[in-house]
Amino acid sequence: MARFIIAKDYDDMSEKAAMLFSKQINKKDNSLLGLATGSSPIGVYKNLIEWNKQGLIDFSAVKTVSLDEYVGLDADNPQSYRYFMNDNLFNHINIRMENTHVPFGAAQDVDKETKEYEKRIEMLGGIDIQLLGIGRNAHIGFNEPTDNFETATHIVTLDENTREANARFFDSIDEVPTKAITMGIGTIMHARKIVLVSYGENKADALYKAFFENTNPLVPASILQYHADVTVVADKAAMGRILDSGIEFNGY
Ligand code: F6R
Repeated sequence: MARFIIAKDYDDMSEKAAMLFSKQINKKDNSLLGLATGSSPIGVYKNLIEWNKQGLIDFSAVKTVSLDEYVGLDADNPQSYRYFMNDNLFNHINIRMENTHVPFGAAQDVDKETKEYEKRIEMLGGIDIQLLGIGRNAHIGFNEPTDNFETATHIVTLDENTREANARFFDSIDEVPTKAITMGIGTIMHARKIVLVSYGENKADALYKAFFENTNPLVPASILQYHADVTVVADKAAMGRILDSGIEFNGY
């Protein structure tokens, strides 16, 4: 059963989740962090930047691997996830850029890139702690609802509803790429710890289905019920459906 930390609001969620990352880095200075993009983790990164500036966490030995990247976008494209990671975290902390890994979406041979990315994660020693957001359709990374869980890093065709949700970052929906490279469900499940952040009522259904209904590849995040160390940090709005169902939480 996942642990749930109910946060007051976005800032509280961000601080509580960032604490889990800071603890991990202070316990193991060369941790491999699995990172996510999107609106949910931005506040987590802001806290980590601040604590790094204050000398409370040191990223000089930390390594990172990102969950996903759009196919066809390179690092200079402001909509690419490499650009997002540089802009929202890496450019502001004392990490070595060569220790940061994001799938290369503009690779000539993207199939080869997916295989190499999976190997790279293994060679780096496996993910110590993975940060996840959750899609409105319960996707994690870009593992969209399908008939079977795809295990390794692979190429996906994005759901229309995911493209619509992400269109806010582009000038128009036509510019949202149709494909992405994503860590697979197996890649994510191999992480030693998982922290999932979620806020806002538009995530309430996804969160409920993921953790309180049967595991089903049509609800990709529901696989997390089988992981031994998952912490969900969510605000009250995202927890709405779970709290309404009468499930009780001790201590939070
Ligand atoms: C991002 C990612 C996605 C997002 C999800 C939620 O790297 O893999 O699964 O975590 O789409 O996005 P936000 O946080 O923008 O609601």
